[in-house]
Amino acid sequence: RCSSHLTDGSWLLSLVTVATVALTRWSHRHVLDLAAFSREDFATMLELSARFRAIPMGGQRRIPALQGRLVTTLFFEPSTRTRSSFELAARRLSADVQSFSPASSALSKGESLLDTARTYVAMGSDVLVVRHGCSGVPALLARDLEQVGCKVAVLNGGDGLHSHPSQALLDLFTLARYFNAEAPGLEALQGRRIVIVGDLLHSRVARSNLWALTACGADVVLCGPESLLPQGFEQFVSAPPPGQELDPVAQRGSLRLERDLDRALEGADAVMTLRLQKERMRAHLITSLDAYHRRYGLSHERLQSCGKTVPVLHPGPVNRGVELSGELLDDSRVSLVEEQVRNGIPVRMALLYLMAATEDG
Ligand code: NCD
Repeated sequence: RCSSHLTDGSWLLSLVTVATVALTRWSHRHVLDLAAFSREDFATMLELSARFRAIPMGGQRRIPALQGRLVTTLFFEPSTRTRSSFELAARRLSADVQSFSPASSALSKGESLLDTARTYVAMGSDVLVVRHGCSGVPALLARDLEQVGCKVAVLNGGDGLHSHPSQALLDLFTLARYFNAEAPGLEALQGRRIVIVGDLLHSRVARSNLWALTACGADVVLCGPESLLPQGFEQFVSAPPPGQELDPVAQRGSLRLERDLDRALEGADAVMTLRLQKERMRAHLITSLDAYHRRYGLSHERLQSCGKTVPVLHPGPVNRGVELSGELLDDSRVSLVEEQVRNGIPVRMALLYLMAATEDG
């Protein structure tokens, strides 16, 4: 549907071709987690994100791919990056955007979540981007909306400890681009050793990343204290989650648990660090922030254990000086944190496009 509206640039022809093919291959109505994604799905996402990233988006430029479509963000939990990035992505595709704020809504008058969602569907919403503090709420909402005959797509913007698909997809894209900027596809990730360090217990970002990275053939090393990384986590992708019979990926990369950070970093190709989610901790799970930083925090000195220069990722928000030192965070030769934020826009454009565009335009 782009072709009739766009007139300039060599990126145009390839975008139109790739986008059309991607749409015919895409089979997911909702995007609730990444356990249901095949390698082809990840390849499609990476390719389309790369095309959207290549579009010169200066000034008022918009791609009319989702003209007349409506994207609604329903965020029941705070967000700085995810919500703004989804809204910007939707606008860049020419969709209309609406955002819901729980505090000032009729939820406080007792309206149910389902009725609230149906209200937005009645206004014509095509995609609901839902963030909620409880795991499983976006999936429940998708099921209940289907049951009442609503033709809307639900995109999980992060639910409890469960899943955060768009974040993991942008992490994947950022890594693939780092390893091969010209061809950021599956091959760029195959056999790479990625360390994930920190509060895995409370991290929906890590859980989504485990499905994404292992599907693309990366070998993942998990690192953290027992209280934040329970034994058994290395089994995480060994069986599909409840409700899903088969793993769509025939052979995944490996998962290994390593408590000692210096040993975990040996031979690593990239390190992903996670925020200590104090708001979700019901007990004192670490003895002190200082002690945590000494054992699990990243700094330039610490990274020497990798034996080579490797990039560092963090989904944000960062506790500066805890998960990583301020110097490392601000060092753009190593820290990909801002690059992750930038990549969030084309990746979310790709997701919204696949979920809301139609083959007949
Ligand atoms: C993450 C989230 O909300 O799950 N942030 C994000 O979306 N960029 C991670 C976090 O809160 O630590």
